[in-house]
Amino acid sequence: MKPIRIALTKGRLEKDTVALLEKAGYDCTAVRNKGRRLILPVGDGSFEVVLAKAADVITYVEYGVCDIGVVGKDTIMESGGSFYEVLDFGFGKCRFALAGPKDRDFYSGYTVKTIASKYPAVTRAFFESKAMDIRVIKIEGSVELAPLLGLSDAIVDIVETGSTLRENGLQVIETVAEISARMIVNPASLKLRKAEIEAFADKLEAAKEEME
Ligand code: PRP
Repeated sequence: MKPIRIALTKGRLEKDTVALLEKAGYDCTAVRNKGRRLILPVGDGSFEVVLAKAADVITYVEYGVCDIGVVGKDTIMESGGSFYEVLDFGFGKCRFALAGPKDRDFYSGYTVKTIASKYPAVTRAFFESKAMDIRVIKIEGSVELAPLLGLSDAIVDIVETGSTLRENGLQVIETVAEISARMIVNPASLKLRKAEIEAFADKLEAAKEEME
């Protein structure tokens, strides 16, 4: 049987995911010593880890070239897709927030507001739920710059400690959604390799509880 392939978001979530896999008893030596290798064996060889960018994790799981994915709820909310979300890992905790300049009342006035975000779909859905007409400008990084430069009235972005906002004279106006790392599974994989995938999810959930 070929190994079950897990797409893991590289960067911020990587360390916590590896720690959890190890706590659950899976040998992650190859992942820890990966160098530039992108496909790495995990455990006794019945699993394989692929390191990828968050949006690509979803693509690989959707197309079924990876059975399982570890990805932030932020990316799931932005890109959607057909997969099952089976577990909240509890790490990678942060939130989506609407934020803007400290000295301004965002909701005052009648002009259509401009919102800068790396997450245009999340932003649109949030304002649609308020039946509020807005304009969204997509920004790729350091979104906090947009209101400082006068490009937007506010931003929808990830807030973790809040220090980026604080240090730039911005503040949270409203929380949009809570975020954490999630386990996603390809629907066909879950059917074909149900026992293995469920055992894996159970082990990770137990390890998560032990770590809390
Ligand atoms: C994220 C996010 C905020 C910052 C929030 O950016 O977009 O800018 O972290 O963290 P804080 O509340 O702890 O200050 P990231 O560092 O991922 O880089 P980016 O701005 O280039 O997307």
